[in-house]
Amino acid sequence: MSLIHAAPPWWHSAVVYQIYPWSFQDSNGDGIGDLPGIISRLDYLKGTPDSLDIDAIWLSPLYPSPMHDFGYDVMDYCAIDSRFGTLEDFDRLTAEAHRRGIRVVMDLVLNHTSDQHPWFIESRSSRRSEKRDWYYWADGTAHHPPSNWAARFGGSAWTKDKHTGQYYLHSFLPEQPDLNWTNPAVRDAMFGVVRFWLERGVDGFRLDAINWLGKDTSWPDNPRRLAWRSYYRQVHRYDRDQPQAHETLRALRVAVKNYPDTMLVGEASSDTPGGPAAFYGSGTNELHEVFDFRLLRSPWQADVFRRLILESDRAVPGGGWPPIVFSNHDQSRHIDRYGKDGDPVRRARAAALLLFTLRGTPFVYYGEELGLRDGRLRRSDLRDPYTIRYWPWKKGRDPARTPMPWDTSPHAGFTTGTPWLPLSADWRRTNVVQGQRDTGSMLSLYKRLIRVKKGSRALTAGSYEPIDGGPNDCLLFHRRVQTDTHQEAMLVAINFSTHAQTISLPTSASLPQRSGRLVLSTDPQRSEGRWSADRFSLGPEEGMMVEIE
Ligand code: GLC
Ligand code: CA
Repeated sequence: MSLIHAAPPWWHSAVVYQIYPWSFQDSNGDGIGDLPGIISRLDYLKGTPDSLDIDAIWLSPLYPSPMHDFGYDVMDYCAIDSRFGTLEDFDRLTAEAHRRGIRVVMDLVLNHTSDQHPWFIESRSSRRSEKRDWYYWADGTAHHPPSNWAARFGGSAWTKDKHTGQYYLHSFLPEQPDLNWTNPAVRDAMFGVVRFWLERGVDGFRLDAINWLGKDTSWPDNPRRLAWRSYYRQVHRYDRDQPQAHETLRALRVAVKNYPDTMLVGEASSDTPGGPAAFYGSGTNELHEVFDFRLLRSPWQADVFRRLILESDRAVPGGGWPPIVFSNHDQSRHIDRYGKDGDPVRRARAAALLLFTLRGTPFVYYGEELGLRDGRLRRSDLRDPYTIRYWPWKKGRDPARTPMPWDTSPHAGFTTGTPWLPLSADWRRTNVVQGQRDTGSMLSLYKRLIRVKKGSRALTAGSYEPIDGGPNDCLLFHRRVQTDTHQEAMLVAINFSTHAQTISLPTSASLPQRSGRLVLSTDPQRSEGRWSADRFSLGPEEGMMVEIE
């Protein structure tokens, strides 16, 4: 049970909304989203009675970039790509966001730069370059790179540079050389970047690929294993999750200490025993929040969710706080992923209930709140090199990056030009205007969930307590908080199965009380009212939330 102490940091009760700048709103007809476009849509996010009412936006990279990896290949960390606008536009966005009570979280790519970054251009110019050791350069043997390491996006992680005859390391694309974080000059330069944005008023950073920040620089081969794609045909023992990463993050935490309200949330696709939670550090001297993608990768199965939720919740050390995320720009949207062999809309509604009732900060990926589906793209529509490489065997990332549908005007109000990626097929039915009109829409559900969450101390601050004794294909838990005067509890029940269930919880079930009031159901037809643990029913793939008395 959680006790409420001094005011917790803002992110404990915040809802974060991820904007993919390419796809949110275009303002000048070039078919690419931009900063003036985002500014023009801020009212949708907060500040009017119709707004979603989120608290922070995380912007995927806005920096100048050749866009091999759509911004995750940065050419200049202290500027804005001209496709998106200018630094002045960025300042205006921050001011307009802050005026509405929206915090701004920047994406920060620490592991690698673009090969067009002046640092790399200098580094590759000569073996004696003063920036040679800003990146990892090594000799291979006659026909082999320094190690067998595979790149995340396919192929070897080493590319031979003809000019100097050495190999450089890139954990992702060859156009994304890895920075050498053992070099103090790299750290100083990057922490300067961090201060640059903090001085401009940003409220936090989403740190990209943090578990790649350290490497074993004696370049041992990774052990092999059986798998289909080259990246998984090895155990990533030496190219990821090294002690250096933790050292770097501890230093980063110190570097932001004069900006006390700064949130650091990291992306760590670790499969090491400590898992992503290792990046909270000891006594949380590393990150405030670390994404855990196990739920996102999980099949829609109650028993798997039950186990993973408990494991990941309990893995977060005191002082740390879990982010909850089901969709982002790197995979198929969860409505399609979870929805595969059931009713995608019902499942997405149940997942939404979970997103806002688990302990942690919900991260909403733009369009998710509309129930936007993956785009059905043709080969010629694809833009992302990773999606292209594995198409059509893997769905890839472009389908989840299609433009935000605002209304039923041409191109869904996203652009007056030709959108950079086609709209999702269902945009005429699934768009903001439509969602706002229909009280049974996904958008209306998200708005209600956000309001209920913010009004409930159990949901913002309570502990996560599983309830046992229910059917195996239902997930049951409650959130509970003890204030100075009383206890508050909220119960959540989700039926993962496609058949209706009538449930009688045994008296041995770990419940704070056996009766309560149904606050919200994901089934728009169900009416609110009394609830009893002795007998209640859940429709197929229905979720409900009950205030316990
Ligand atoms: C992260 C980003 C992804 C990017 C990769 C390399 O996983 O989320 O979009 O391609 O890092 O920067
Ligand atoms: Ca534009």
